[in-house]
Amino acid sequence: MVKRKPIIIDTDPGIDDAVAIAIALFSEELDVRLITTVSGNVDVDKTTNNALKLLKFFNKKIPVAKGANAPLIREATNASNVHGESGMDGYDFEEGDMSNLLKENAVNAMYHTIMTSDEPLTLVPIGPLTNIALLLKVYPEVKSNIEQIVLMGGSTSRGNKGVLSEFNIHFDPEAAKIVFSAGLPIVMVGLDVGSKALVYPEDSDKIRGFNRTGEMIYSLFQHYRGIGLKKGLKMYDSCAIGYLLKPEMFTVVDSYVDVELTGTLTSGATIVDLKGYLKKPANAKVCIDIDEEMFRKWFMEALQKCN
Ligand code: RIB
Ligand code: CA
Repeated sequence: MVKRKPIIIDTDPGIDDAVAIAIALFSEELDVRLITTVSGNVDVDKTTNNALKLLKFFNKKIPVAKGANAPLIREATNASNVHGESGMDGYDFEEGDMSNLLKENAVNAMYHTIMTSDEPLTLVPIGPLTNIALLLKVYPEVKSNIEQIVLMGGSTSRGNKGVLSEFNIHFDPEAAKIVFSAGLPIVMVGLDVGSKALVYPEDSDKIRGFNRTGEMIYSLFQHYRGIGLKKGLKMYDSCAIGYLLKPEMFTVVDSYVDVELTGTLTSGATIVDLKGYLKKPANAKVCIDIDEEMFRKWFMEALQKCN
C-alpha cells in the first residue's frame, strides 16, 4: 500500500489548473485534503465555482474553501483572454455540489487542516500566492506542520505576463515575496519547465479517447488561448503535481530567490540568483529544466488514470 502524501491545492482554475487537479485527485500517491481558491486567471467567485464544478465532474468529495478576491495591495488583473470568461471555457460543466464548499475562508480552512493533521502537509499553490501569504502572516504557527511548498510560479528569465514576470507572481508580487522569505522549504516550478511541458495536437487527440475526463480536457484545450494547440499547450500547473509524483523529470538547483516589487518595468520578476551575486543563502529549490519526453509519457499515463 503506497503511503499517500497529504497535500492542499491552492488554485485559480483555470484550464491548466483543471488538468493538474484531475491528475492529483486520481493519483494513488496523493491525498488531497483541501482545495482553496484564489483570484487569478478569473475572479475568486468563478475560480471557486470552477473548483466545485470539477469535483462534481470527477465525483470527488473534497472540501473547498474560498480565498482572496484580490492581491494584497495591487489591482487584480486576470487571464480570461487565455482561459475564457468563465475560466474554463469549452466544456459545459454541471453546477458544482455546494455541499463541498466550506463556510470558513481559505486561510482559516488551511489553518485548521494543517494544525489538525497528524503529519506535515505539502502546500501546492498553482495560482497567485495571496492565500498562502495571508496564511503565513495570520497563522505563522502553521510552519511547524508544513513539509514544503511546491509552487507553480516564477521564471529564471523571461515572463509570460510581464517582460520578466510570470503570471502568478506578477498578479501578487508582495504575496510572493512573503512566501519566498518565510523560511519554509520551497520548490519553484516556473516557466523554465512549464514552457517545455507541452501537449501537441496528436497528444490532445489521444487524450480525447482516454476516458470522459480526457474528453472534457480535449474540449477545454480547444478554447485554451495560450499560444495555441499547434505549437503545444503549456501544462504549467501539471508540472507542480509532476514534481511531487516524478521529481526525476526535473533538473533542480538550490538558489536564493527574491521578488522585484519596485521596478517600474520589472515588478513581479523572480530574481533567481543562480550565481550567488547577492551572497544570500539559498531559500528555494528551482526547477531549471525538464525532460520533455519523460514529461509527455508521465502526463499521458497520468491522464489515463483519471477515470
Ligand atoms: O503562468 C502560468 C500560471 O498562470 C498558471 O498557473 C496558469 O493557470 C495561470 O494561473
Ligand atoms: Ca493556475
